[in-house]
Parts: sequence; C-alpha cells; structure tokens
Amino acid sequence: MWRLGGERLTIRRVGILFAGGPAPAANAVIAAAGVSLLDAGVEVLGFYHGYSNLAAYDPSKAPLLADEHYRLLGDDDLRGIRSSRGVVIGTSRVGPGQEIRTVADLDDPVRLGPLHTVRAGLLAAGVQALISIGGDGTLRTANLLVEMQRRLPPEEPRVAIVHVPKTIDNDYPGIDFTFGFFTAVDVLARELHNLRADAQATSGWFLVETMGRRAGWLAYGVGIAGEADLTIGVEDIPAGWKTAAGHLDPRRVVDQIVDTMVAREGKGKHYGVVVLAEGLAELLAPGTTTRRDDQGRVVLAAVDLGRTFAGLVSERYAARTGRKKKVTGLQLGYESRAAPPHAFDVMLASQLGIGATKALLEHGHDGVMISTSGQFELKYVPFGDLVDPVTLRTRVRLVKPGSDFHQLARFLESRTARPRAWGPGPRKEG
Ligand code: F6P
Repeated sequence: MWRLGGERLTIRRVGILFAGGPAPAANAVIAAAGVSLLDAGVEVLGFYHGYSNLAAYDPSKAPLLADEHYRLLGDDDLRGIRSSRGVVIGTSRVGPGQEIRTVADLDDPVRLGPLHTVRAGLLAAGVQALISIGGDGTLRTANLLVEMQRRLPPEEPRVAIVHVPKTIDNDYPGIDFTFGFFTAVDVLARELHNLRADAQATSGWFLVETMGRRAGWLAYGVGIAGEADLTIGVEDIPAGWKTAAGHLDPRRVVDQIVDTMVAREGKGKHYGVVVLAEGLAELLAPGTTTRRDDQGRVVLAAVDLGRTFAGLVSERYAARTGRKKKVTGLQLGYESRAAPPHAFDVMLASQLGIGATKALLEHGHDGVMISTSGQFELKYVPFGDLVDPVTLRTRVRLVKPGSDFHQLARFLESRTARPRAWGPGPRKEG
C-alpha cells in the first residue's frame, strides 16, 4: 500500500517500458524488476516498443491488444534472460512530450494532449505504476507524466512513475555509471585493437567516430581501453578552436591529428588510430546535417565524422610532409548496443531493476530515478534534481575538463610537440 495524491492505493499491476537506443543489460533490468514484482504478487505488463503503442492509443480505433501492443509477463518470460542480447520488449524513440518546451506549456491542454493519451492508455492497461527505462529523453517524458498528473483534480486516478537510467553514452546525472556503458566500451575497444593491427600492417591510419551524443565518455573509454593514439571529445575543444561565429574550426582538429601522425613518425611508427566523439558534429557549422530523430534531435550518425575528417587529414598531411598516407574513416556504435552484456553491467542493471520494485512497493515513490553508488547501494533521486526547471530537459553530464578521468586519456595517448589543453605536456625524453 502506498500513498499518491492523498489517496491510499494498492499496486496490483506494474507496466514496464523501454525507450531509446538499446543498451547491453536492458533485459537484466526488465527481468530483475519483473521477477521481484511477481514474487511480491504484483502483475507485470511489458509494453512493446516504448511509447509507440501508448502514444497511438485510442479506445475506439486503436485499443491496446494483449500480445500485440503489450504482454503480461510471466516467470517463463523473465527467467534466464538477464545476460541476453537486445531488448526483450523492444524499443522506439517515440517521445510523447515533444510539444512541451517550457514549464508554462504544462498548462496548455493542446500541448499536453499526447501525454493525456499515454495516461489513458496506461489506465486502460490497468497499471497503477510504470517503470520507464531509457535515456535523457525518456527521463524527460517520465517527468512530464508526473508533472501533468500533479496538475489533475485530486479525484482523478494517477499512475506512479519511476525511471531507470539507460544509455551507453554514460552522460547521465545522478548515477556514477549507466548500465551498458562498460560493455559498449569493451566491444568497441576490441574493434579498435583490430583496426590498430590493420593500421600497423598497412602503415595506415584510422579515424574512428564513436557514439556518445554530446558527451565524450564513450570516446574516452574506447580510446583508453582500445589504446588509441589520440582521442578528441567535445570536452577537449578550447575556445581558441572556435570560429568567430562560435563553431568548431575543423582545421584545428585536423592539425591536432596530423601533429600526432608526425610525432609518431619521429619514433618510427607510421600507423595509428584516432578516436573522435560523435558530439563534435554538433559543434560544426550548421548545414553539416539536417536529419532529426523522433525526439527532434540531430541524427549524429548521419554526419559521418570519421570519413569527413579522413579526407581533410590526408590532404593536410600531404601538404605538411609532401607524402601520401592512407587515412580511413569509420563509425562505431551500433555494433555495441545490443551486445551480450558484461557481468558488471548485468549486476548493475539487475540492482536497478530491483530498485524500481523497491521504490514502488517499499517506499511508495513517484517521480524518482533509481540509482546506485559505491557497492551497488540503492539511491532514489527525485526527477526535480535531474531536469532543468525551466526547459524541463534532462541535464547532460559531460566529462569535466581537467578531471582525473579526462587526464587519464591524455596521459596514455601519443604526445605531440604542441601540448594539448588539460594534458601533462610533452614527454621528457631520456
Ligand atoms: O543514445 C544512445 C545512442 O547510442 C547515441 O550514442 C547515438 O547518437 C544514438 O543512440 C543513435 O541512435 P539511433 O540512430 O538509434 O537513433
């Protein structure tokens, strides 16, 4: 029994929904939450493909159908899947709060329409609570559902919402590391080792763009574990690398890469691998990409940073050295998102799933994100601590320039004559 909006409610059925890009160990959250709910005598309803069916809910034209739009999950659906690939209930990027841009929009019934549709769908499915699993956009939607329901008359039924943070990007405030991050780093770092062996054999260079959206966590993780010669993240761009219009000057990035190539040649090494964070694409002058996803965000994968820079780097290398060099660009990310999860990610994701059950059944929480710190100690972080109070957008956690984590990558990469910002400076020879 728990209290919400002054009413004492019993949770008999909980919905689980996963939205956004897949992340390794997704099924561990679903299984751990599901099994612990079933153990407590609570029914578990898995909504298929994120918000897509709930957002389209219409009692007369598009009712929610069992085993087509959702499934009542039983023990057999949930046992033995914690380490499996993919997302057992599917996902989508449909985000029903797109029209809400500021807190004032929460009083606009037209803009709130899609959120009311989702709430009606949840009530029609008979759930008293929802476990949302997803990235920053999904947390934003979860918070909007809570805020919308706070504004309902007291007699209206509510659905409690708790959220589990998910992303291979690790750019979430309120949690040390997100599940799936270390598996993704590992999968992509292995690719990097393969590319390095190829580069060594062919005396070439690879420019590898990694996913990670606006933050450099994934790029740095892959650079560190994959032994890259240079990693450039969004957090590495000093003010001096920007044009008068405030955009990233690509020539600065190109020169940094060529500096590294030349420095390695000085040591007799005519090959190497560079990691570029995909978020750099957002810093380039507009017009580089116009493709947007269902949540209205730039599709960074469409920019193809690695290939774009590969052409520029081989031209600049030829101009500086008078020699030709094979420079190949490629993108990495998709191959990691549904990979078999590491034990660490399975353990973390399982604890977050259990945390979601505890948040609902033991603590009666509504509007909290499940988190852990230290040795998987559970924490419940109010949505209000994670979203901007005016725009209602989730805050993004970038790598802190100059932090120990940031410097870790810098200490390990190849040194150039021109020292990099936040770096240890040129290596002392002899
Ligand atoms: O949010 C996770 C993520 O993996 C980002 O790193 C990447 O930009 C994005 O998903 C790409 O997702 P999709 O192409 O599926 O929209």
